[in-house]
Amino acid sequence: MLSTITRYTFGTLFSLLLNLIKYPFSKTSRTKLSSAFFALKYPFYGNHHVELRELLTDDQLEVTVLPLKANEHNTTEFELLTICSILKDRGVQHVFEIGTYDGRTTRAMAINTGKDGKVYTLNLPPDTRESKLQTGHIDIELASKVVSGERFSSTPEETKIEQLWGDSAIFDFAPYYGTIDLVFIDGAHSEDYVANDTQKALQLLKKTAGYILWHDAHLYGVADYMKKIVFQQKAPIYFIKGTSVAFAKVENGQFIESKK
Ligand SMILES: C[S@@+](CC[C@H](N)C(=O)[O-])C[C@H]1O[C@@H](n2cnc3c(N)ncnc32)[C@H](O)[C@@H]1O
Repeated sequence: MLSTITRYTFGTLFSLLLNLIKYPFSKTSRTKLSSAFFALKYPFYGNHHVELRELLTDDQLEVTVLPLKANEHNTTEFELLTICSILKDRGVQHVFEIGTYDGRTTRAMAINTGKDGKVYTLNLPPDTRESKLQTGHIDIELASKVVSGERFSSTPEETKIEQLWGDSAIFDFAPYYGTIDLVFIDGAHSEDYVANDTQKALQLLKKTAGYILWHDAHLYGVADYMKKIVFQQKAPIYFIKGTSVAFAKVENGQFIESKK
């Protein structure tokens, strides 16, 4: 995968230079300049950088994205559509979210599960002062910035949602092992936490098949963790264009190469 990305980046730069020499001020040159800048800045460029449509199977897919409008620290509007689409396309029933915040994504995910759907969502308790593993202070401060889950509270979806409290490094996930279809990782953003949360996600998922979505995949410690598992361990993870969301399919506790 590294060589594909390297080829892609150098190919983009070569094509940029060629265009700059031939037509220095053309629109093509400017477009290529911006792609070259993106290729250098974004670590996950290449054949695993995919459009959302490449991950969807159902041509007639209908998705409800509610509540659409994002607040600070939420997923963006297109990211919410992305998450809900993948979940609905796969017929996901049981979701585990790490990092509830105000509960906007929690609610949207609950809406897109079936009638027996369930979303478990874990957050640090609001009185948290320190975390078990090292992370940025913002991760802890967010626990009391809003009322956790306020955007699903008193909505029709509340009955499908179970709010859990704890630090993902020490929370007892065991009762949920092997029962979950999709894990959404958006808790603490340090490399240590994302490594911990990913290991827990692999155990949470049903042995037959399951999916992990990471938010902020190309940012902070999440990106450091991603670089390690993608480039060193060759984990087949897809990065969805126009979002910070990464996607992986898991079977028997292992990542498998599949967009479906
Ligand atoms: C960026 S917000 C989540 C946003 C939310 N998923 C959304 O889509 O709107 C991160 C949340 O994770 C919580 N958090 C941070 N560290 C955590 C940890 N170690 N365990 C559980 N939750 C954590 C924070 O308190 C915060 O509410």
